[in-house]
Amino acid sequence: MQGDLLVREEILRLKEDRQAIILAHNYQPAEVQDIADLTGDSLELSRAAATMDGDIIVFCGVDFMAETATIISPEKMVLLPAQDACCPMAEMITADELKLVKSRYPDAPVVCYVNTTAEVKAESDICCTSSNAVKVVNSVREDRVIFVPDRNLGHYVQRFTRKKILPWEGFCVVHDQITPNHVREAQALHPGAIILVHPECRPEVIDLADHVASTSGIIRHVCNSVEKEFIIGTEVGILHRLVLECPTKKCFPLSQTAICRNMKKTDLRKVRDALISLQPRIIVPEEIADRARGAIERMLAV
Ligand code: 13P
Ligand code: SF4
Repeated sequence: MQGDLLVREEILRLKEDRQAIILAHNYQPAEVQDIADLTGDSLELSRAAATMDGDIIVFCGVDFMAETATIISPEKMVLLPAQDACCPMAEMITADELKLVKSRYPDAPVVCYVNTTAEVKAESDICCTSSNAVKVVNSVREDRVIFVPDRNLGHYVQRFTRKKILPWEGFCVVHDQITPNHVREAQALHPGAIILVHPECRPEVIDLADHVASTSGIIRHVCNSVEKEFIIGTEVGILHRLVLECPTKKCFPLSQTAICRNMKKTDLRKVRDALISLQPRIIVPEEIADRARGAIERMLAV
């Protein structure tokens, strides 16, 4: 579209003037991914926020991602172009609820998925993402860990550790609606295709998968595989990167309705407006950020 082209040019000019970097999650709309300096999974974007040059980060994703960037780079200005882009799973546990669980299991450290509020991170010992959850859990000394908030990721990690996982009952509204029936239907349509799923899927879906990985892990697997056809069990925004980075492979969504509405709230106009007004800016109160930083830095060190 002509209008989009102009907005794109404006963004590139403003980005230069402001010395800003644009980070986009793999689930972002295609046109947003296309103007980003880096598109990646939660861990790659957290690392980039901590290390990339630039005074301003425009975070095209959901609120906990922008909060994490603010916590690890407090000297940078972090903008979330779609102010109301949240992660419903992150809202499924509060800091007070976590304090209650901690009082029941005082010897168990808390591993929190990065999909949590800053307040919950502040109450946690170490953070993890989908790509390092097993490593993080195995890195703690204790024999049992409180794992919040994703029960499915908790169950997945349990397969690879001798430690006892005490999972919170949260879930991702997008991945949890994928069922074994979706897998059977997709297999009937694409016999022989390799099934790749995200660890936020239910255990019974994980059981049917050939490979389980974070969003960027899925992309790497497709690009490096000798196979030609893949069924992709995660949010459909990932298909854009798969087409760009693995053009010789055929990728089919496991569920056409696996769409994260919050990830789709960002558009080019909101990115441009954020660069003009330097709003909406994500601020995390210093006292909470200081406590949450420990959990994130411990994860980045693993
Ligand atoms: P990744 O870290 O694998 O990109 O996942 C983030 C997320 O929100 C998945 O729903
Ligand atoms: Fe949250 Fe699920 Fe959306 Fe990821 S896909 S941001 S976990 S609701």
